[in-house]
Amino acid sequence: MHLNITVLEGDGIGPEVIAQSIKCLRSVEETFGHSFSFKKALIGATALKQMGSPLPDETLALCKSSHAILFGALGSPEFDSDPEAEMWPEQGLLKLRKELGLFANIRPVKVFPALVRQSPLDRNLVKNTDLVIYRELSAGIYYGAKTKDAENNAATDTCSYNEKEIGRIAHLAFKAAKKRRKKLTLVDKANVLETSRLWRRVVLQIARSYPEVQLECMFVDNAAVQMILNPGQFDVILTDNMFGDILSDQGSVIAGSIGLLPSASIGTDYAMFEPIHGSYPEAKDKNIANPVASILSVAMLLEHFGLKQESVAVVAAVLKSFSKKIVTPDIMGSSKYGTNYVGDFIADNIIELNDDFNINDKNIDLGKSTII
Ligand code: IPM
Ligand code: MG
Repeated sequence: MHLNITVLEGDGIGPEVIAQSIKCLRSVEETFGHSFSFKKALIGATALKQMGSPLPDETLALCKSSHAILFGALGSPEFDSDPEAEMWPEQGLLKLRKELGLFANIRPVKVFPALVRQSPLDRNLVKNTDLVIYRELSAGIYYGAKTKDAENNAATDTCSYNEKEIGRIAHLAFKAAKKRRKKLTLVDKANVLETSRLWRRVVLQIARSYPEVQLECMFVDNAAVQMILNPGQFDVILTDNMFGDILSDQGSVIAGSIGLLPSASIGTDYAMFEPIHGSYPEAKDKNIANPVASILSVAMLLEHFGLKQESVAVVAAVLKSFSKKIVTPDIMGSSKYGTNYVGDFIADNIIELNDDFNINDKNIDLGKSTII
């Protein structure tokens, strides 16, 4: 298969983690006989400083001409601390999502057996965590009308949704639940927000087409508690833009490090793959950033294009790095391995697996897997 991939490294640790993902894709290319071409473009603070816009037209055009986008991270403290700024890096990402119609942000949260001790939560509570958040990504309070009234020191952000915006992601989430453990939790604030009440109406209606999926509705404040108390109860979580942003960061605590969680942002015409973590400017160029979230995003990219075997091979190589303790210091404080070494190890261990290989990290953990 040939894929043109636009690479948006972004800011902070973005370039370092993306470099490891590209190594992995090169390894997949070699091992499985595919051809991937990469073109880089600027976004975020880097673009804003060099080109005067957080999403230059050239970047958008390149994204639109490619099969997939690999995104690093974005954001810079110099902009965070300036509430008077007219333009800031995050606007670039929001515009990109909107322009590409990326309405579904899929964020899996999984606790890997080899890393279960990394979680600050009780291991017996978190060990069965295997959930996926379907976060609506192109509407809601992120995109509703905004006002700024400097004179009166007042401002508004409007949360707005319509049936179509809710329905298209709801169908994706139900379809995912059907293939998984057949449970879908709609997370909202329907006891307060009109938009949440609309979500409930639309989702309850759609649920009728998926009788095999058990639907439950949960208020977001309770969901935040339940995710920490008993994350194993969740299978697919469906939620709006803002709640999904917050709950997915919380999910990373369950998994043990925010450097582990990948994501896919999907629309009708385009798809983008990115770690859920931010630009972590404190770690920039220190060779300590965890590349796993970005590499697992590559696995999601491969799966999206039907390259299942390739995707499994990438995940297996990541699991092998865990079991061999080839991890960055966020996972094991005493680790002497840096971003590059971990990236090399994972890329070098992407190999063709037996057809009957069961991607069961317990096997790898126990050294029973054929690839160890
Ligand atoms: C994320 C990030 C972004 C978001 C920021 C960088 C705009 O936090 O992808 O979760 O809020 O969507
Ligand atoms: Mg976020």
